[in-house]
Amino acid sequence: MDTYLDNAATSFPKPLAVPEVIYDYIVNNGATSGCGSYEKAILADGLVYQTRKKLAKLFNHHDPKTVVFTSSVTESLNLALQGILKPGDHVVTSSLEHNAVWRCLKTLERDRGINISVVPATATGETAVKDVAAAITPDTKMIVFTHASNVLGTIQPIGEIGALARKKDILFLVDAAQTAGVVPIDIQAQNIDLLAFTGHKSLLGPMGTGGLIVNCATDIHPLISGGTGGDSAYEYQPDYYPNHLEAGTMNVSGIIGLGAALDFLEAEGLDTIRHKEDNLMNYALEALRDVSGIELYGPQDSSKTVGVIAFNLQGHVPEEIAFYLDQKCQVMIRSGLHCAPSAHRLIGTVNRGTCRIGIGYFNEKTDIDTLINGLKSYLKENN
Ligand SMILES: Cc1ncc(COP(=O)(O)O)c(C=O)c1O
Repeated sequence: MDTYLDNAATSFPKPLAVPEVIYDYIVNNGATSGCGSYEKAILADGLVYQTRKKLAKLFNHHDPKTVVFTSSVTESLNLALQGILKPGDHVVTSSLEHNAVWRCLKTLERDRGINISVVPATATGETAVKDVAAAITPDTKMIVFTHASNVLGTIQPIGEIGALARKKDILFLVDAAQTAGVVPIDIQAQNIDLLAFTGHKSLLGPMGTGGLIVNCATDIHPLISGGTGGDSAYEYQPDYYPNHLEAGTMNVSGIIGLGAALDFLEAEGLDTIRHKEDNLMNYALEALRDVSGIELYGPQDSSKTVGVIAFNLQGHVPEEIAFYLDQKCQVMIRSGLHCAPSAHRLIGTVNRGTCRIGIGYFNEKTDIDTLINGLKSYLKENN
């Protein structure tokens, strides 16, 4: 039987209701949303709006209309960064960013003349809020922070950074790719102006879904222009939400699937989900510590992380370990830099990479046992 431990890349499996509602929509409805005045199209509109409402509720956001759908968190982050930052703007960011933020910032630095300050972090990925404060200048337009590192798992002090940003009147953009669906996020209490999320990781929805929640009045220039299904004689993108930032035929089936995943999350409860993943994380850490030659990265404390564990085996290449585990033991883990080289700079693995396991809600202790047995047999055959 396959053992899937790559949930930080994408969650698998999904709650069964997700493919079921997608199938039902494609087979029995199939209409676009936002464009039709016949019953099926109106039904599709309603289902899309329901998903906006569920997301607003999950993140404690006041207005479902400013929940903007995108194809991914990468698109959401690009939309916020490219849509807001202007020449001369200064941005403060973490030492742990995924390339979805980092490459976008570097491109804006090169092409638009923005300035970037990177806040230092410890080797376990912890950031001190005083260092964020110290990086702020009179030109700081935005603070953009990942909520949790996808390499080390370390959760960042989002609430404190949000309070600081609000006090200084600076926009606060959070990349919730690794936390949405497993760590509580409260847009109001944590003073988040812009929340970028993806549907296909811990939210347990399908790929091709994501969004940006806009909790500020700042104008965001659309990344794309096109049809919105209304006010079609107007020659520019409308200035009202969500149409201002959504153009073209939507991923209605994906959004409906995400809606079903959100129902599942609500029924299970975030506390239950987090508790289960925490237990598995502690179980995995304890078992991994027993593997000879193991180098573990990150805080090694489940209360400080999401369910991500990066590790190496002394003298061995991460890709070879991952390939062996897959081919010989049917265990799927990630290897490499995980699209976040800056986090690897912190732990000295930028040239080598790491193995990474990503624990999900559907994993069990037996999955960890299978991984550990696989690592031990790899060492037996390769030492
Ligand atoms: C922290 C973080 N940000 C952004 C992304 C990009 O996600 P996607 O490729 O789904 O847009 C990921 C995916 O691994 C991530 O972990």
